Formats: sequence, structure tokens, C-alpha cells
Amino acid sequence: MDLKEKIDPDKLPSHIAIIMDGNGRWATSRGEMRVFGHQNGVESVRQTSTAAAELGVKHLTLYAFSTENWKRPKCEVDALMNLLVLTLNSELGTLMENNIRLKAIGDLAHLQKNCYAQLIETIDKTKDNNRMDLILALNYSGRWEIAEAARRIAAETAAGRLDPEKVDSELFEKYLETKDIPDPELLIRTSGENRISNFLLWQIAYAELYFSPKLWPDFRKNDLYEAIIDYQNRERRFGMISEQIKPVTDK
Ligand code: FPP
Repeated sequence: MDLKEKIDPDKLPSHIAIIMDGNGRWATSRGEMRVFGHQNGVESVRQTSTAAAELGVKHLTLYAFSTENWKRPKCEVDALMNLLVLTLNSELGTLMENNIRLKAIGDLAHLQKNCYAQLIETIDKTKDNNRMDLILALNYSGRWEIAEAARRIAAETAAGRLDPEKVDSELFEKYLETKDIPDPELLIRTSGENRISNFLLWQIAYAELYFSPKLWPDFRKNDLYEAIIDYQNRERRFGMISEQIKPVTDK
């Protein structure tokens, strides 16, 4: 039985988020420039997106560029931005063939101009696709997103348009970048690092965390299947006890 067949389609996470890590190490261990790792990471993006869509996952969020990544050497930042532009352009066919809609979260307006323009163009061209949403987190960080939501809520209350008493987690979520997207049930990080690195801090409150030793350019469909199988073997209790959730999970 291959790995894909071991996946229970009735217990599929509807949203998977991935911290793609290890591109730099993958390249330097081969005596290559770091950007070579990012370039090879594109195949992993392709494999993971198509595998998730084929399985029936509804949302796949990839951490492609964090607000902290601007601190990298300028040549690496420029190379990453160029790679994003090239990839968004060259992968349009893959997105259309697989009926995948591209979305993005983050401080997009402050991306480099050509990157922003290509992103908006690809989002627009794929807007009618409906098998899966591929959500790129670009110029994104969880703390930025939460602070931004708090700032906008404060402005609304100061203007008298929002009663402070009405601010609860349900309302707060409506001010997040992910307002129309369910929280990820599964968060994967590659490269053996066991950190969250400022990714989807609010949304992963109850996510199952899966850390893969594979460096991102080595991550393939089977690695995604392994993560999903591992997730399906866990018991998600949401603060309750086993007996309370059994009737739900046994359905
Ligand atoms: C982390 O590896 C990876 C990134 C910061 C960028 C990810 C980008 C891609 C895979 C390129 C294309 C992406 C899309 C969505 C088209 P790292 O550089 O931090 O690796 P290291 O920890 O080994 O240094």
C-alpha cells in the first residue's frame, strides 16, 4: 500500500500551513549559493501544492517571505523577489491545470513593485479556480498581523464606530489577514527546526505541529502524505477530555 492510500479522506485537514525552511543549508551543503536552494524549493512548492489539491485539502498556506527576511543580504532579498516574480509567471499553468486559486496574506503593498504587480496579476487570473486556495504569506509576520488588527480595531473604537465591549476573539479574527480562511489544523515545518518563527500566531492556537527533518528542496509529495498520516493518528481534544471528543471523531 503506498502512503497516499493510507490517508483517510474523511479526516483530511482542510487547511495546512507550511514553514518552508532549509533552502540555504541545502544549497551551501552542495557548495552552491543560497539562492540555488530557493530555486530548487520551487519544485517542492509545485509538488506540495498539487499533492494537497489532489487530496482535497481546501487551503494551503506557505510562508514564502517574512517581515524579518528583509534583514538578509540585499542580493538574497533581490534574488528571492525575482524568483517569486518568475515563479508566479511560470507556474500559472500549474495553478490553472490544478484549478488552484492564488491568494496572499501580509503587508503586500510594501513588497517590491514588480513583485506586487505580478502577484496581483496571478491572483486575478486564478480567481475563478475553486479546488484549493494556495495562500502565500509574503512580507508577513504573526505579530505584525495581530498589531495591525489591534490598530484597526482601536481606530474604529476611537471613531465611535465600534463598541469596545464588543471586542472578543470572534470579532478580532475578522480583522486578521485570514478573516475568510479557517484556522490550519496542521502546521508543518521542514529542516528539523522546532520553532514557529512568527507564523500565524493567532491561527495555530489548536493546530497540530509536525516537524520534518527534510530540507525544503527535498520535500516531496510523500513527505506531505507522511505529515497528514501522522496528523490523522493524533487525538485533537481542544481542551476537552478523550471521552468528550470520541463521539465526534468516531463519526
Ligand atoms: C527558508 O529557507 C525559505 C525562504 C525564506 C524562502 C522560501 C522561498 C521559496 C521556496 C521560493 C519560491 C516560493 C514560492 C512560493 C514561489 P532558508 O533560506 O531560511 O534556509 P536556511 O534556514 O537553511 O538558511
